[in-house]
Amino acid sequence: GKVAVLLGGSSAEREVSLKSGEAVLNALLSAGVDAIAFDPAERNLWELKSLAVERVFIALHGRGGEDGTIQGALEYMGIPYTGSGVLGSALAMDKVRCKHLFKSAKLSTAPYAVVDANAGFNADAIIKEFGKVMVKPSHEGSSIGMAQATNAQELTTALTNAFEFDEQVLVEQWITGREFTVAMLGDEALPVIEMKTPRGFYDYEAKYQVNSTQYFCPADISHAHSAQLQVMAKHAFELVGASGWGRVDAMQDENGHFYLLEVNTVPGMTQKSLVPMAAKAQGITFEQLVVRILEQTL
Ligand code: DAL
Ligand code: MG
Repeated sequence: GKVAVLLGGSSAEREVSLKSGEAVLNALLSAGVDAIAFDPAERNLWELKSLAVERVFIALHGRGGEDGTIQGALEYMGIPYTGSGVLGSALAMDKVRCKHLFKSAKLSTAPYAVVDANAGFNADAIIKEFGKVMVKPSHEGSSIGMAQATNAQELTTALTNAFEFDEQVLVEQWITGREFTVAMLGDEALPVIEMKTPRGFYDYEAKYQVNSTQYFCPADISHAHSAQLQVMAKHAFELVGASGWGRVDAMQDENGHFYLLEVNTVPGMTQKSLVPMAAKAQGITFEQLVVRILEQTL
């Protein structure tokens, strides 16, 4: 039956999604799948019915596409789709609730505070408690709206900016160290990737726009550390109710201790993205990866 690749959408990550969706569509076409592109920002989702679409590959990132909204609509329409269901998608898109869950499950994650746009905040007190911090809109992806702050003035600026994207903002204690990610395929954790950037952190530019980011896969860490991180990633993935495929991001401090950052249920799928990179290290081509994710809908 016909497959629609949902791409684009209306979130702040639209541009990334267009690239992910195009790469996925091309892979499906070259695997001989009868596939079309479908942008729900431009068309009514009910058109999937008149187009006789039988399954959907969700390549939408961010709000409206990765957060359970489209998943719920597809459930209602009776069309099978790739990746996590409504609950896992909604939870993973909510960084604040994920932090609460990690904490209650005793999964290692950086200390944090939650700031609500309508409640006001005491920047001095936050800096005094945590020192350097990372500011993150609760429901964004691709590092959109994120900034680091080392003093109250920087924190006020960072929060004001983050409130442009979200009413709820997460302030995390800054972890000095290395940045890693673990791709999940089915219930298997793929080889660990390390990202190294000369920028302050792995931000939007480091992810998509500059050539200075370096990727190491498998990461240059001990077997024990890599196994430990894979177990943590799998635990976090299952804890938030994610399934099918995804990616779990983490940091490692200078003492070798890991901290979970977040779970992504529709991670980037461009030819240069992290999940395809981890799959390749496991001997899975981009085309095979896309087909395996799609097959989970059968
Ligand atoms: N939010 C982006 C697409 C990622 O996690 O890869
Ligand atoms: Mg994310």
